Amino acid sequence: MKVYVTRKLSGDSLARLQSEPDLEVTVWNQEAPPPPHDLHRAVRGLHGLLCLVTDRIDAALLDAAGPQLKVVSQMAVGVNNVDVAACAARGVAVGNTPGVLTETTADLAFALMLAAARRLLEAADYVRKGDWTFWSPTTLLGVDVYGATLGIVGLGATGQEMARRAAGFDMRVLYWSRREKPEIAQGLGATYRPLPDLLATADFVSLHVALTPETHHLIDAAALARMPPHAILINTARGDVVDEAALIAALRSGQIAAAGLDVTAVEPVPLNNPLLLLPNAIVLPHIGSASRATRTKMADMAVANLLAGLHDQPLPHAVRA
Ligand code: GLV
Repeated sequence: MKVYVTRKLSGDSLARLQSEPDLEVTVWNQEAPPPPHDLHRAVRGLHGLLCLVTDRIDAALLDAAGPQLKVVSQMAVGVNNVDVAACAARGVAVGNTPGVLTETTADLAFALMLAAARRLLEAADYVRKGDWTFWSPTTLLGVDVYGATLGIVGLGATGQEMARRAAGFDMRVLYWSRREKPEIAQGLGATYRPLPDLLATADFVSLHVALTPETHHLIDAAALARMPPHAILINTARGDVVDEAALIAALRSGQIAAAGLDVTAVEPVPLNNPLLLLPNAIVLPHIGSASRATRTKMADMAVANLLAGLHDQPLPHAVRA
């Protein structure tokens, strides 16, 4: 059976895949993702595809692959780049890698919150530029994270881990989720608030929802207008959960104080994106799950899903349409 892997993976999972006797494994060996044209050519006649968030897996690609395709295994928890319904319609199983990246992503969200609150990037630049010529009681003043109110938008696995971290900083935790989760929330010391209330109340708002048609631009101009001027927005979910043009306007006008973003509407973020010139925006290159250990676990899970799909077994972690 033919398998295509759209990048080199961390750890030894690729070697294990390559040692499977009945598989012919091809790997896109460059650092950058395969351009769509190359991917379309590469998938012809495939039985299994192991892909990443950078690859668009749509109906046209599935048709280019052909009816023998059994499984699309995505090495990520989010699958907004995969047309899951089109896969289901063609009997193609879809796998993802939930769970193993939860803590690592929550660590990064918390790091972004601390960095934005205490202006770490500006402070490091200040030192590098040689501006630190004397100590001053009023230089680079930020805001406290400890004791502040955190609004978690989406109390899934990563949102819950964010709440656990917040408890260690004596934060008051509010959450909004599609449906209330009273038992989980009680264990976390988190209180449900309708989204408009949460936005109006929280000092920090951290986004942890999947990107779906319902959450596309969930944080739009109206949502940003509800936030107080000292509020800080953290996004480690997907860029399109936020209306980026509205966010840029809000950061420019001082409608909100700052943003810490691991994700942007277009990735990689174009160098002319105004976010990169704003002193109150931190933009990272989508590294939420980027610890060595976690990326290795994700690769292992993606390979396990792929092998199960190839052998017509239920996937250990299947995504349903
Ligand atoms: C990363 O963005 C993921 O969804 O795993």
